[in-house]
Amino acid sequence: MSTRQLLVTSALPYANGDIHLGHLVEYLQTDIWVRFQKLRGHDCLYVCASDAHGTPIMLRAEQAGMPPEALIEEVADRHRRDFGEFLIEFDNYHSTHSAENREIVERIYAALTAGGHIARRSIKQAYDEARGMFLPDRFVRGTCPKCGAQDQYGDSCEVCGATYAPTDLIDPRSVLSGTAPSVRESEHLFFKLGDFAAMLQEWIGAGHLHPAVTAKLAEWFEAGLQDWDISRDAPYFGFRIPGEADKFFYVWLDAPVGYIASFLELSRRRDDLDFDAYWGPDSTVELYHFIGKDIVYFHALFWPAVLAGSGFRTPDGVFAHGFLTVNGQKMSKSRGTFITARSYLEHLEPEYLRYYYAAKLGPGIDDIDLNLEDFVARVNADLIGKVVNIASRCAGFIHKLAGGRLAARLHAPELHDAFSAAAESIAAAYESREFSRAMREIMQLADRANQYIDQHKPWVLAREGATAEAVDVCTQGLNLYRQLVIFLKPVLPEVARASEALLRLPPLVWSDLEAPMLDCEIEPFSPLLSRIEPARVESLVAATRTAAAAAASPDAHAG
Ligand code: 2FM
Ligand code: ZN
Repeated sequence: MSTRQLLVTSALPYANGDIHLGHLVEYLQTDIWVRFQKLRGHDCLYVCASDAHGTPIMLRAEQAGMPPEALIEEVADRHRRDFGEFLIEFDNYHSTHSAENREIVERIYAALTAGGHIARRSIKQAYDEARGMFLPDRFVRGTCPKCGAQDQYGDSCEVCGATYAPTDLIDPRSVLSGTAPSVRESEHLFFKLGDFAAMLQEWIGAGHLHPAVTAKLAEWFEAGLQDWDISRDAPYFGFRIPGEADKFFYVWLDAPVGYIASFLELSRRRDDLDFDAYWGPDSTVELYHFIGKDIVYFHALFWPAVLAGSGFRTPDGVFAHGFLTVNGQKMSKSRGTFITARSYLEHLEPEYLRYYYAAKLGPGIDDIDLNLEDFVARVNADLIGKVVNIASRCAGFIHKLAGGRLAARLHAPELHDAFSAAAESIAAAYESREFSRAMREIMQLADRANQYIDQHKPWVLAREGATAEAVDVCTQGLNLYRQLVIFLKPVLPEVARASEALLRLPPLVWSDLEAPMLDCEIEPFSPLLSRIEPARVESLVAATRTAAAAAASPDAHAG
């Protein structure tokens, strides 16, 4: 297996709200995939950043009476802590409000302009005279022109599903001032996406996407590739467009550029990383973006086109996932299921959720459901009942009967070989993001390990004085446990670390699967992971319900 070079990203979280369990689907999916690549010995980097610009962030800062720079710092610190405690390990976490991002956005814009891919024309937009600013679609509400439903957003109706322009609303109101917006004209800059139709067809055809995503793109192609408005008028929190008076780059232009900027910042701190080897047009590094299904348009159309049009390499894969439901429904503050990362961490261990999501995740865009009862049952049955249990059953006897020393031979080498032989299929499942299949196969092996122990009953052997055989069986059990730990290490890094300490092993890697550990000493057993008490989940939900008002507001995609 030759070493691959990979660069992996997750979507950049907006720096104006807390990370919640919905966000975590993506960061955990990506982190597990990256840890798997590293465990296999590949050279894999995982970069991310705060998505720091746009109208919602500008307004949130204003509301809080602080400069946007202070708000985004504060929120980014909280995000970093949340990610860290969920064992999400970035190689770099930067910000789109950074010198590196400005440098790359300006470089991209200059290249697109030079290539003739930027158009300029006047557009009419809702304008809040009281606030002195243009209003993003989501900041205008009014009566749906199609079905008459009241208080609908400026871009679409939640009742009948119609889409329209804010200027089509009946009795439109600015959500900022409550006044009726006027219509003003201003000149905007557009990225000519249509210039890249052939390039995009080829890129999509090259199999970088899941079939469900490709199907969605085909619809958009059919509808025609529209020019993309990449400028916003002042006041705006973002980067000024060089050569323009009071115009700023739209947040969605500089957001994905944050992937490049985060890498650039890292590469400037690390001598071994060559920027062009990763981002130049001839790069052989594999580049993958993990995203939610709601932002496919940005990542599978605009982004590859922008990269191609400005002399950068394009992605090798854009992996979209579905949304999270809790107990079968949208997360809800009043039901207590709009759970932030922080409140989860105050009640439960991060690895429970890492495992549960892994057990649910597939490669496609299907939504995943966190059923709280099933969560408790599954984690307890699988992680505690099947996996950790093996170590606790076996390690005690090794100390009681053999002074902590493992036997010098395997009692059932064919079973150990069978576990090694499963590695290929489990690795293929991880690689193709079929984590649920990987977890299923690993738990089947755990069942076999438990069956082996149940069949040989070391507790009976010990009682009957067959000490050597009891030690043999427990040595075998711990070796199978060690293999399970390797398989689960991308999902359960902390359990893996504690298990390595128990077994007195250096950090395990995938290639350690085959050689057993024999005739060596282990530490006394100490608990690796405890059962989830259902009461802890109940108090999490109760606390979330109580804190509903203070809980994070949903992401705004406008701006
Ligand atoms: O949808 C969002 O939450 C955006 N902040 C994601 C940006 S991803 C990338 F383009 F930066
Ligand atoms: Zn309607």
